[in-house]
Amino acid sequence: MSRDYYIAGNWKMHKTRSEAAELAKALVTQLKDGKHKYLVAPTFTAIETVAAIVKGTNIRLGAQNCAAEEQGAHTGEVSVLQLKDLGVQTVILGHSERRHVYKEDDALINKKVKLALQHGFEVILCVGELLAEREAGKAEAVCETQTVKGLEGVSAADLSRVVIAYEPVWAIGTGKTATPEDADAIHAYVRKVIGKLYGADAAAKIIIQYGGSVKADNAAQLMAKENIDGALVGGAALKADTFVPIAKFG
Ligand code: 13P
Repeated sequence: MSRDYYIAGNWKMHKTRSEAAELAKALVTQLKDGKHKYLVAPTFTAIETVAAIVKGTNIRLGAQNCAAEEQGAHTGEVSVLQLKDLGVQTVILGHSERRHVYKEDDALINKKVKLALQHGFEVILCVGELLAEREAGKAEAVCETQTVKGLEGVSAADLSRVVIAYEPVWAIGTGKTATPEDADAIHAYVRKVIGKLYGADAAAKIIIQYGGSVKADNAAQLMAKENIDGALVGGAALKADTFVPIAKFG
């Protein structure tokens, strides 16, 4: 089964509104004829600005997180209702920085996944092991647990709006990329986990992105692997000059 490639830029906590607008405009122009599926996920404060620029183009609009509740007394949080109001289509959840720096656990991430799906969003669920976990031979087990717990209670119908991003924590922002073979092995394993949960057809269809020091010079080798269907790009997504060659790989 052929799956469409999906290249996403996670801008993390970078860019003022004017900087975000400049990048979004450059991407709209330069990816106009791009063949793949694209997404940018600006920081919350720049979402509205970027929304006006990517609206009606082939670039989807993402957010990097959302609250686990629709509304209420949750100081500092941003809700799915507010994201929907801005035109956000996709929410990235369970990013390793949320898991490890801000201590989000699988139960909280699962609550967010279900809420975002219930509100019609596409969800990019991030999974990935720490270096110590990889060295202890636990990479598959960690990714399996994060996948199973992250998707607990998600229906087969809603799974069609879920993308998994495999982001080994040791490869994020470090310049160390997983080899295409190592990444593909985890992707194949996660696909098998999806197969156990939702059946062979869902496993064959689900998009699994790779993230962790993806650059123009390694994107094509990674994407050539059978189970790697796209990329979730951090550092290299911050400039059109470095993101466009990844987005137009091949
Ligand atoms: P880098 O591409 O900077 O390694 O970041 C990857 C990432 O965390 C994307 O979500």
